[in-house]
Amino acid sequence: MPPSLPPTLRFVLCGSVDDGKSTVIGRLLYDCRQVFSDELRRVEQDSARYGTQGKATDFALLVDGLRDEREQGITIDVAYRSFETPRRRFIVADAPGHEQYTRNMATGASTADLAVVLVDARRGVLPQTARHTRIAAMFGVRHAVLAVNKMDLVEWDRDVFESIRASWRAIADEIGLAAVEAIPVSALTGANLTRNGTSASWYDGPTLLAHLETVDVEGGRADRPFRMPVQYVNRPHSDFRGYCGRVAAGAVAVGDAVRISPAGTGSRVASIAVGDDARDRAARGDSVTVTLTPDVDVTRGDVVVSADEPVEVADQFQARLVWMHDEPLAVGRRYAMKLHSREVGAAVTRIRHRLDVSNGHELAASVLRLNDLGTVNLATDRPVPFAPFDQSRELGGFILIDLATNATVAAGTIVFPLMRAANVKWQHLDVSKDVRSRLKLQRAQCVWLTGMSASGKSTIANLLDRRLTAEGRHTYLLDGDNVRHGLCRDLGFTEADRVENIRRVAEVARLMVDAGLIVIVAFISPFRSERDYARSLFAPGDFVEVFVDASLEACAERDPKGLYAKALRGEIRNFTGVDSPYEPPEHADLHLDTERLSPEECVDRLTERLDREFPAPPSPVTEDR
Ligand code: ADX
Repeated sequence: MPPSLPPTLRFVLCGSVDDGKSTVIGRLLYDCRQVFSDELRRVEQDSARYGTQGKATDFALLVDGLRDEREQGITIDVAYRSFETPRRRFIVADAPGHEQYTRNMATGASTADLAVVLVDARRGVLPQTARHTRIAAMFGVRHAVLAVNKMDLVEWDRDVFESIRASWRAIADEIGLAAVEAIPVSALTGANLTRNGTSASWYDGPTLLAHLETVDVEGGRADRPFRMPVQYVNRPHSDFRGYCGRVAAGAVAVGDAVRISPAGTGSRVASIAVGDDARDRAARGDSVTVTLTPDVDVTRGDVVVSADEPVEVADQFQARLVWMHDEPLAVGRRYAMKLHSREVGAAVTRIRHRLDVSNGHELAASVLRLNDLGTVNLATDRPVPFAPFDQSRELGGFILIDLATNATVAAGTIVFPLMRAANVKWQHLDVSKDVRSRLKLQRAQCVWLTGMSASGKSTIANLLDRRLTAEGRHTYLLDGDNVRHGLCRDLGFTEADRVENIRRVAEVARLMVDAGLIVIVAFISPFRSERDYARSLFAPGDFVEVFVDASLEACAERDPKGLYAKALRGEIRNFTGVDSPYEPPEHADLHLDTERLSPEECVDRLTERLDREFPAPPSPVTEDR
């Protein structure tokens, strides 16, 4: 964009089709002449045929036509349109207004500087008006304009407008929106939208467009200390290393002292380039390549920050989430978290509450479902550089991704770090796992048996344990049924409870392997994500995943505890294989088909697999001779 053009204003338009949303956007596009002539001709023809406005052009058809195309196959359905006037360029996010589209609203709001909240003058402020305003605020919108539409249908009655303005202001104040404005408009006639209305002589404020053209939403953001998340390390040849990213806050100049977060290494800016042009300085919003002297170690996901105002680093947070997926949030499940240019593993450790968006009440909740908004505690695998979202969207906004399907399941914002947790450090112990296992003359590891109930896990685990013990190994067996009597007796069989069950067992197994033991784990562990999480806790090769496989028919036939019969009669709920899923391993280290192999044969295969990993210790007797 040529530098003479004013900065772009991004806004989100909240409201529903009934409030006249499409007509507002259609008219803005039309009056700013951003409509292609063939599109316009189509709309003029369609207006005559399907329009709701008699002979006049129905602007809603323009926008709805565009939207139809977009609605096909797009998961997060936000349509972005841009238009410009001689004073400013605009990008408007048009998010559908029904309740089930909360995620779209959140997505639209997350990049917007301002929200235009539309209400119908005849209906006034509705629960959904509050809902949209709240979501917009939660995703960082600080400026809002209330457009009271269809004023022509209430004869431009000033009292109607004032009373709507007052009730909306109460909501905006409670939410803490910085700047609020209210404008009476008629999208149909265009009055006070793009040109001054003649019917409301009592209104002497700007039109909606004039307000959008002049509103200052920067609010001193450029003064903040310099932050640049590194998106890409550019290394075309061995004597050039440039760090590319977008300046998220503040400004930087050649020669400035900087620090690389989270490592904390200090350096100085040697050069700055925007595109191919060398620059002395860059500021918020610029996409730059910087080089450093000395050239310290920087990787993708690090943040380059001003040396005297370092960014915070933590691994436990209070965060707000909007859940965007049909599968509900599983507390304890590990997701990939994308925060600025960094990706780490993360899990929700606790749901603090769910938000009733219509009134702001906090409700107790054990689960977040599609379109729910909630406040949670979140733990990341590694410390991450961040800023609370209300200080920086770039460093405080994130998404969660399901590791198995790669689907985006949530969008979130960091509220603050949980200091207490961040202050618990990992204590270094001098006696290591290797020392402990060498003392026991074995290689400590975790043998993880997964499979449906009655597939044969416990039988095989027990036999393996006896064989290893007879060989003189130091082992321990963690069995699903037994652990559920103590450590996990508070847990049932819902998805969330199973996730937590496996998390606890995986942590215990890790501690036991650290103590030098060979740990045999026999749990259904039906979900891939949690088995992958368990694997992630161990050093490569220390975790052996064994799929104990038998068909559902075979398991139901064996049914040693009579549980399949009960489940099939509907007397037990969430029974694996019946009304709760089992996700078979895709890359198990060993696959045991217990319909073809006897328990002894299974254990033969297992010990073969394990023996290669740790040769039996030489007998002390032969050694002495
Ligand atoms: S897991 O899914 O969380 O890994 P776990 O292995 O601890 O399950 O417990 C499974 C044992 O609990 C089964 O072998 C069975 O005896 C018993 N059980 C009771 N209810 C259920 C159920 N709804 N689904 C599966 N197993 C159940």
